[in-house]
Formats: sequence, C-alpha cells, structure tokens
Amino acid sequence: MSILDALHIPIGIPEHYHSLSEEEMIQRVREIKKELGERLYLPAHHYQKDEVVQFADDTGDSLQLAQLAAKNKKADYIVFCGVHFMAETADILTEDAQTVILPDMRAGCSMADMADIHQTERAWKILVERFGDTILPLTYVNSTAAIKSFVGENGGATVTSSNATAMVEWAYTQKERILFLPDQHLGRNTAYDLGIPLKAMAVWDPISDRLEYDGDYEDVKVILWKGHCSVHEKFTLDNIADVRRDMPDVNVIVHPECTFEVVQKSDYAGSTKMIIDTIEKAPSGSSWAIGTEMNLVNRIIQQHPDKRIVSLNPNMCPCLTMNRIDLPHLLWALDEVSSGKKTNQIKVDKKTARYAKDALNRMLERA
Ligand code: 13P
Ligand code: SF4
Repeated sequence: MSILDALHIPIGIPEHYHSLSEEEMIQRVREIKKELGERLYLPAHHYQKDEVVQFADDTGDSLQLAQLAAKNKKADYIVFCGVHFMAETADILTEDAQTVILPDMRAGCSMADMADIHQTERAWKILVERFGDTILPLTYVNSTAAIKSFVGENGGATVTSSNATAMVEWAYTQKERILFLPDQHLGRNTAYDLGIPLKAMAVWDPISDRLEYDGDYEDVKVILWKGHCSVHEKFTLDNIADVRRDMPDVNVIVHPECTFEVVQKSDYAGSTKMIIDTIEKAPSGSSWAIGTEMNLVNRIIQQHPDKRIVSLNPNMCPCLTMNRIDLPHLLWALDEVSSGKKTNQIKVDKKTARYAKDALNRMLERA
C-alpha cells in the first residue's frame, strides 16, 4: 500500500483512546495480552517506540522478524508492530488461519513506495530487451508483496540488510547480472563490498524509464533501482567530519541504507541487529556515533550508560511511518482483536503470495 492509498484510509482511532492516561492504556494492554495468551503474538521491529516495544513478545531486525513469523504456528492473531511491508511478509509466511493486524494502516515505508509493480514490469521489459536473459531480480524486503511476487516469479529472491552479501553472491551463481530493488544504496554498498567496481553499476530511473550509465552496457554487472530511505539519506559526510572532530576516538557505525560515501567513511556498517550486537560487545568507555533511526539509537544510549554514544546526525532522524504505531493504536488494535474483529487485517491475495513466498523462501533457506 502506498502513502497515497493510505491517505484514503479513515484517519484516527476512536476519540476516547486519546483521553486515556498512559497507566490506563498500559493496564488494558496487559489484561488483553493475558486474556489472549498464546493466541496473540506481538513482534516489534527495533525502530518501534519504547511505549510499544515494552509489550513485544520478540523484537528483531527484518530478517529475524520474517524468520519468527514463519516459525509461529500457534498464534491466531499476529499484531505486527512495524511497517506495512513487514506485516505483508508475516501474512505470506504464516498459515491461512492466522490473522495479521497492523495497528495503523498508515505505517508504510517511503522506500517501499519508490518501486511499484507497473514501473517494475516496464523496467524489466526494457532491460530484458537490452541485456537478454542475463538478469536476476533481487528485492530488499522493504518492498511491496507485488514486487516480491514479481521477483519470485522471475527466479529471484528477497534480501535483508543482514544477508544481502550472501544473497548477491548467490544471485551471481544464477545469472550474469542483478537488478536490485528498491534501495540503490544497499545494492551499491553490498556489491562494492563483493569487489564489483562502481563503473560496473548502472542506475535505473523508474520515473523517466531510463538506464543511467556512461560505459559499455556489456560491462554492467548491477542495475540499481533509484530508490532510497528518506531517513538514512539524512546522514552526511559533514556529520561524520563533525563527530570525528568533536570525539576523536569515536567509532562511526551506520546502516547500509546510508549513501555509499557515508558508508565508506564509517568504521562499520550493518543491519539494526549488527549495530545492536556491535555496541553490546564494545568495551566500556568506548565512543560511538550511530547512523540509524532515532528510536533505536535512543534505546541503545539508555542501555549502555558505560559508553559514550551519540546519534551521527545531531538532529536525530525519526522514521515517521514506524512512529505511527503508538500506545493508543496498539491498544485499539488489541481491543478489536479481543472483541473478535479483524480490523486492519493485512491480507496478501493468494496469487501474489505464491511467488512472493518463493522469493522469501529462497532467502530463508540461505539466511
Ligand atoms: P533492518 O533489516 O536492519 O532491521 O532494517 C529495516 C529497515 O527498515 C531499515 O530502515
Ligand atoms: Fe522505510 Fe527508511 Fe523507515 Fe526503514 S527507516 S521503514 S527503510 S522509511
């Protein structure tokens, strides 16, 4: 679902949720969780707010949440605290009888919205005419179910920031070239790490339907979809220069959705799980500047008072759509579940789900 589609969804939850105190909401969420027991599963992405994460049965990065959804056979209801594409993935990987709920349908992902299925089909036609049957499509899980399905139907797979390297390596055992959707930065950073030079990377512009490339097309190894994350693009080289000046012993660690230049100038890059694990293992007294979403950065700062940790961008970068899921929306979604309603159900149609599942399973088999 795109942000434009989301604008047509009736906004807001019943007024009285806003007049409840935090204590009342917390109490009610606890009661519903107790009442539903194992019939309810509540996974939360690391970028979720603390007021939501406190109730999570599991927290994780995109890969862990996909694996956990695939494993859970007990819950009748999965109230997914994350964004739309994650809830779609959970629906694809769980049984038909299990219901996936997203507490606020406006919790989308601006990056996933940068590739729609019509643009993808148009691009594929042009690219196959130019390169023949030499391209394998790979999509970051931050994409719609329709894109995952397209990729699965064409022999490709999904990737996450945790396994992109392994998946790109696998892709080259299948075909000569890859089309990497929709995040050009994760695609570029991963391919470069594997030794593919920038001059072998072309960029597909889905707005003008043009391939941006100066050299000989025969040399193209990677076609990067021109999409990005509006949160991670806000980390800049100036931020890195500033923090290195102010904290000379700092370690800069960023998410690979940051630009190539930022990743190159950082000390470490990795998924949200990799960032959490690295800081956890770091010695007491060490200094860190983290380039990722602010709810996670704030949580890491609180959990490690023995380390000096700052956000790489002092104007902290929130993911506004992740932040749509708050305590009132969570309580409302749980109230609806507790009264037997399937409000805000995320249901991927069977045809789309079939090939999307192939793309996800090719990744999960190798992850
Ligand atoms: P992770 O897979 O690292 O959790 O990242 C998901 C995401 O949306 C980052 O913006
Ligand atoms: Fe999407 Fe970026 Fe938010 Fe992740 S941080 S959910 S990629 S908009």
